[in-house]
Amino acid sequence: MNKPINPIQWQDERVLLIDQRVLPLKYEILEINTYQEMAAAIKTMVVRGAPAIGVSAAYGLYLGARDIETDDPAIFLEELAAIASVLSQTRPTAVNLFWAINRVLETAKTAAKTESVAAIKVLLLTTAKEIHQNDVATCQAIGDYGLTALPDTSKPLTLLTHCNAGALATAGYGTAVGVIRSAWREGRLDRVFADETRPRLQGSKLTTWECVQEGIPVTHICDNMAAHCMQKKMIDIVVVGADRIAANGDAANKIGTYSLAIVAKAHNVPFYVAAPLSTIDFSLSDGSQIPIEERDTAEVYQVGDTRICPEGVDFYNPAFDVTPADLITGIITEHGVFEPNDLITLKS
Ligand code: MRU
Repeated sequence: MNKPINPIQWQDERVLLIDQRVLPLKYEILEINTYQEMAAAIKTMVVRGAPAIGVSAAYGLYLGARDIETDDPAIFLEELAAIASVLSQTRPTAVNLFWAINRVLETAKTAAKTESVAAIKVLLLTTAKEIHQNDVATCQAIGDYGLTALPDTSKPLTLLTHCNAGALATAGYGTAVGVIRSAWREGRLDRVFADETRPRLQGSKLTTWECVQEGIPVTHICDNMAAHCMQKKMIDIVVVGADRIAANGDAANKIGTYSLAIVAKAHNVPFYVAAPLSTIDFSLSDGSQIPIEERDTAEVYQVGDTRICPEGVDFYNPAFDVTPADLITGIITEHGVFEPNDLITLKS
């Protein structure tokens, strides 16, 4: 196996991020020293993928906390809440962002009852590091539970995935790509089919790159080729990630996931969502309540820096869609594989 991919590193009081905007053509590391830099990195997708933006936001909140100049815990909490609000406004769909920010804020609130500001700051860094480290272990558990979801084929199987739910989208190992890694390790995988994932091409650029790093055979297809591949019986299973899952099992993921689920159902191909518990939003009864991010329409009318459409055309660029629970065969979590209807049993 190659060296593990670490998209986020805490080093010498700063965060080092792999710049995912320039992969695979360039491998560049960006240094993040302030919460404002972290907010910009999340917004511009230097770092992306639900768990990865959660971990990044936790460190971002600590960076902001570190630089607050007061010894008064009440003032400290007020300023921390303002920083949390800036980080919360970076991307709306992935609930992991809010989950991680809340966890750090709760740590601060509890500690502020008894501790000095200096002691609270130390605790916040410990919390961010915990979120970071736990995510890797969580992804490994998801990957290994995913093995139980694989169809019982006589030969190694073919797996289609959408977007990038890999090491780059988490603290390492990945969710959907975690299942891929575990299946490859166990000799259960023949090849990955990676959707390109228009408009930002996370499949073309990132998932294929991760597979190449790991030596996993990968076939890259355009998004509109998936139905054809399923009709030709080239795909045994679909596994994707998620950005937010409602209590009833409806799952928001990268735009194009919903159509993939419909196509999978039409061809009797099992369709799984792999995600940590931090992606489940039990406060939402169904997927219609999940906020869907709309991004700059230039992502649609340009390829790279080149405009591909004439002037006078309108554009629409939703970054995510919601796959209804009845199209999902199972949800692979760090606690096992659940039918979407049974997700509610995980509510604590
Ligand atoms: O817009 P992105 O690249 O942040 O979207 C990422 C996805 O949709 C992933 O599939 C999802 O966050 C799961 S990552 C483990």
